[in-house]
Amino acid sequence: MDIVSAKGLIKDYGSLRAVDGIDFEIKKGECFGFLGPNGAGKTTVMKIIHCFMPPTAGNVRVFDMDVTKNPSGIKAKIGVMPQDDNLDPDLTVLENLIVYARYFDIPKRLSSPLASKLLEFTAMKEKTDVNIRDLSGGMKRRLLLARALINNPELLILDEPTVGLDPHSRRSVWDMLDNLKFEGTTLILTTHYMEEAERLCDRVAIMDSGRIVTVGSPETLMETHGGNLEDVYLKLTGQRLAEEAA
Ligand SMILES: Nc1ncnc2c1ncn2[C@@H]1O[C@H](COP(=O)(O)OP(=O)(O)OP(=O)(O)O)[C@@H](O)[C@H]1O
Ligand SMILES: [Mg+2]
Repeated sequence: MDIVSAKGLIKDYGSLRAVDGIDFEIKKGECFGFLGPNGAGKTTVMKIIHCFMPPTAGNVRVFDMDVTKNPSGIKAKIGVMPQDDNLDPDLTVLENLIVYARYFDIPKRLSSPLASKLLEFTAMKEKTDVNIRDLSGGMKRRLLLARALINNPELLILDEPTVGLDPHSRRSVWDMLDNLKFEGTTLILTTHYMEEAERLCDRVAIMDSGRIVTVGSPETLMETHGGNLEDVYLKLTGQRLAEEAA
């Protein structure tokens, strides 16, 4: 079964068409990456998948539920690590997780031990009682990952999961994502790091100006276009820049 399927997806912000009629399917257990330059429409697509906002047109189904008809059914089964930090700055690390667990009706008796387990998993344990304001940028990213896992999601949406992480932390997040994938979690991510996409993704979609330019496994794309994934990316997204300049 496809975990996500989108047909003719369009999203307009006023007169700006951010997503311009795209189709894609994401299979159970795969890691699917959206790549593309700033403003390509990646975050917009992610927000539609996790029912943060509805599409302007087209059909998007997640776990075979329509995003416009059953957002609460979908939200119960997914975890979201947003691009922008939306942690509660007035609360501690642990409190952020416990408050978030309430959205999923997880009682405190369960959310407390679960939160400590997740803080351990994300190497944030020693910051348990620290205020959000006193965390580094990379620690906030790791806490957002811990928070995204609070409802044991079947689908995890990661919008630039390792931006701002030091190389060591980045590698440890990759290992965490490997573990989740091994346990059967479906992953959707966006990234600007081609090494990350190559390392984690079974398939990637390269987006540009609201459209999908190509989709396939990193290996297939590299074979078809030559070079490494960064070369493929630069070739396909650079074409548009060259056309615009002409
Ligand atoms: N809430 C909004 N209101 C109006 N325009 C928006 C809004 N959110 C995004 N946009 C516009 O939609 C387009 C796509 O934005 P989006 O955030 O989806 O891009 P992105 O591919 O995630 O880029 P980045 O790599 O910089 O994160 C951009 O032109 C952006 O300015
Ligand atoms: Mg984005």
